[in-house]
Amino acid sequence: MLNRIKRRFDMKRLAHLERRYRAIQPGYLSRVHTVGEIPDPETRWANGYGTITYSEWCFTLGLFQGLFHRLRPEGAMKMLDIGCGIGRLYLAMKPQMTAADAYVGLDVMPDAIDVCRKAYGDDPRTSFVHLPVHNATYASDAGAERTAWPFDDSSFNFASALSVWTHFSEDDFFFYLKELGRVLEPGGKAMITFFIMDEHYDATLAGRTSATSVYYPQPEEMWKYDVPAYGSDEFFTIKAAKVPEDAIGVRKAAFDRAVVEAGLSIAEYIPGYWKERPGYWFQDVVVFEKAG
Ligand SMILES: C[S@@+](CC[C@H](N)C(=O)[O-])C[C@H]1O[C@@H](n2cnc3c(N)ncnc32)[C@H](O)[C@@H]1O
Repeated sequence: MLNRIKRRFDMKRLAHLERRYRAIQPGYLSRVHTVGEIPDPETRWANGYGTITYSEWCFTLGLFQGLFHRLRPEGAMKMLDIGCGIGRLYLAMKPQMTAADAYVGLDVMPDAIDVCRKAYGDDPRTSFVHLPVHNATYASDAGAERTAWPFDDSSFNFASALSVWTHFSEDDFFFYLKELGRVLEPGGKAMITFFIMDEHYDATLAGRTSATSVYYPQPEEMWKYDVPAYGSDEFFTIKAAKVPEDAIGVRKAAFDRAVVEAGLSIAEYIPGYWKERPGYWFQDVVVFEKAG
């Protein structure tokens, strides 16, 4: 209870400080437009959309802008951003989009799609699509189970999903990775993040304590995936989760099977620093390629 009151008070203070800071910032930004387009704090925090602070938004935009610069296809890009939320990866991709490119954001949260349409809908290269299906964390009211995406086969040559498969139950995980394989054109690439429970993760288990990690400002033991998700022996959640979809880790063998079933191959694997070792981002980043 006390923690909740303190948190609400901290959020109000953060929002107040950020608004004052961002009112002065524009005249002094010199190399980057997009940090000025980050949605305001209340919009970011409504319905638990994810990352709280402006500073972590800026950090993530920069990291993924760099990665996208390296990964994006040459020539006209047709990008699908699965679980686009309120457009964080659109802002990361925007500085390197040409007039010939197109970005489609897909999400189960109607509010998030509304935010994106209002904030970025003036850019004619964008479209935002609501997928009316259930996710225990993000769309618990939606009745429908998983459904095929409303896109033709091979209709995208680039795709992304930041912290989305980390919220998928076992069935969603396999189903939507197959959807990714279906909508990517041959030779297309996708950048997706995961919590993959592999030998690097296993090696950290004995040493994880309640101490704050040197790699991220939370207790090391918080990111132990030791609670079976819906009784699975290959998909796990963490103790702090209210429902499994709050955070899902996948055993490497199941991940590998899902990749094969989806007709994808792994072009690059960049372990995250949740594994208690130096990494690129917190979660594992995987770059997939569909055979040409
Ligand atoms: C942690 S948030 C990440 C949002 C965004 N990618 C970002 O990095 O800011 C996870 C997102 O996945 C969306 N999501 C959950 N299940 C989904 C599904 N089956 N299809 C599409 N989006 C989904 C949620 O609504 C939420 O916006």
